[in-house]
Amino acid sequence: MANKFDIVLLGVGGHARVVLDALRQSGETRSIAALDADTTRHGSTFFDVPVIGGDDLLEQLARQGARYFVIGFAGTKNHAPRKRVYDHACSLGLEPLSVRHPSAIISSSSHIGLGCQIMAGAIINASAELGENVIVNTAGVVEHDCRVGNHVHIASGACLCGGVRVADLAHVGAGSTILQGISIGYASVVGLGASVITNVADLTTVVGVPAKAKSLPSSSENIF
Ligand SMILES: CC(C)(COP(=O)(O)OP(=O)(O)OC[C@H]1O[C@@H](n2cnc3c(N)ncnc32)[C@H](O)[C@@H]1OP(=O)(O)O)[C@@H](O)C(=O)NCCC(=O)NCCS
Repeated sequence: MANKFDIVLLGVGGHARVVLDALRQSGETRSIAALDADTTRHGSTFFDVPVIGGDDLLEQLARQGARYFVIGFAGTKNHAPRKRVYDHACSLGLEPLSVRHPSAIISSSSHIGLGCQIMAGAIINASAELGENVIVNTAGVVEHDCRVGNHVHIASGACLCGGVRVADLAHVGAGSTILQGISIGYASVVGLGASVITNVADLTTVVGVPAKAKSLPSSSENIF
C-alpha cells in the first residue's frame, strides 16, 4: 500500500454513493481510499475510489498520514454500529470529516457537531443544534431550536418541527413528522411515515399516525 490517502471512507454501501456525491459536489478533491468488510470488493473501485481492504487497515492508514475518516453506511434503525466505528476511528487519531451537500440550507445560527452529514436539500434552521456523527439525509428538515444528540439519523424527508429533542442513537424514519416540542428517547426508532405527537421513551419503536409504541423483536438490537 504505497499510496498515501487523505480521507478513509468506511463502508461502501448505497449510502456511500450519497456521501461521495455530496463530497464531490461540495468541491472535495483530496484523495480517498475505501475500506469494506466484504472481501469480494477489495481491489475494485467504488465511484472513482479504490477499495483497498478491510477495516483492519484503518490503523495502518492513520499511521501513513491519512487525516480524516467518513462513514459510508447509514442504518435504518440501529445506530450502535455507526457509533462503534466513529469511536474507533477517533481513537486512532483520525478526524471525522463533515459532509455538506451544497444544496443543503444551514442557518448561520445553528450549531453542527463534528462528522455530521447534511445531504441534498436538507434544511437546518435557526438555533438548531446537532451533536456528532448525525446524518440529516436527503430533504430532511430540522426546524428552529431543535436539539439532536450524537449518532442520530434523520432519514430522508423526515421533519422535526420546532424545539424537538432527539436523544443519542435515535432513528427518525423517512417521511415522518415530529410535533413541535416533542422528545424522542435514547436509541428509539420512529417508523417510516409516522406522525409523532407524544413523547417517545428510551429504546422504544413507534409507528403510525398518530404514532404508537410497537413491540418489535428487533427493538432489542438497539441495546449495546
Ligand atoms: C419501524 C421499523 C424500524 C420496523 O422494522 P422491523 O423491526 O424490521 O419490523 P418489520 O418490518 O418486521 O415489521 C414489524 C411490524 O411493524 C409494522 N411496521 C413496520 N414498519 C412500519 C411503519 N413504518 N409504519 C407502520 N407499521 C410498520 C409491520 O407491518 C409489521 O406489523 P405486524 O407485526 O402487524 O405484521 C421499520 O419498518 C421502519 O419504518 N424503519 C425506518 C426506515 C427508514 O427510515 N428508511 C430510510 C433510510 S434513509
